[in-house]
Amino acid sequence: MEYFIFAVIAYLLGSIPSALIIGKLGYNIDVREHGSGNLGATNTFRVLGVKAGAIVTVADILKGTAATLLPILFAAEVYPLIIGLFAVLGHTYPLFAKFKGGKAVATSGGIILGVSPILFITMVLTFLLTLYLSKYVSLSSMITGIVTVVVSIFMGDTGLIIVTSLLTLFVFYRHKANIKRIINKTEPKITWM
Ligand code: G3P
Repeated sequence: MEYFIFAVIAYLLGSIPSALIIGKLGYNIDVREHGSGNLGATNTFRVLGVKAGAIVTVADILKGTAATLLPILFAAEVYPLIIGLFAVLGHTYPLFAKFKGGKAVATSGGIILGVSPILFITMVLTFLLTLYLSKYVSLSSMITGIVTVVVSIFMGDTGLIIVTSLLTLFVFYRHKANIKRIINKTEPKITWM
């Protein structure tokens, strides 16, 4: 029963479409109609700029962190990372945005932040380094996923290895279109780094 309650809360938290809310309330723009059409932080940076992008990044990370921290705070007998997976599901298939959400990156980072801040910092550094070298946000997201699994293996935490592997596979699945564009050399690169 505890699993069910916290999973539903996590899914609903993840379903809060930060990019849609910031876009509509702050700029009267629906980010789904611009850029890549993705309801995530990257497309918010692309369409609405740094301020909106930064707010959405933080909000999407915190949705995941809250989902893993809630059961810990309530001392629930559940595995927090499993609850976190439901926040990622909510973020990618949001109840409050016709089940068309983001690509799972920021919220996945958020659930890791809730259980291992050190692994989260490793993820951020990997992401920034890959972005600096490649200029592709999507590629940086996927490489960060792979590095996260490798670091989890070194940490020797079986639960973390399983969850980060599942998340990384899911991130790759959500980036199918980006992978095709990278291969075709039509994926946009960032220009500000
Ligand atoms: O986090 C999503 C990012 O990796 C790619 O987003 O909008 O360029 O498809 P986008």
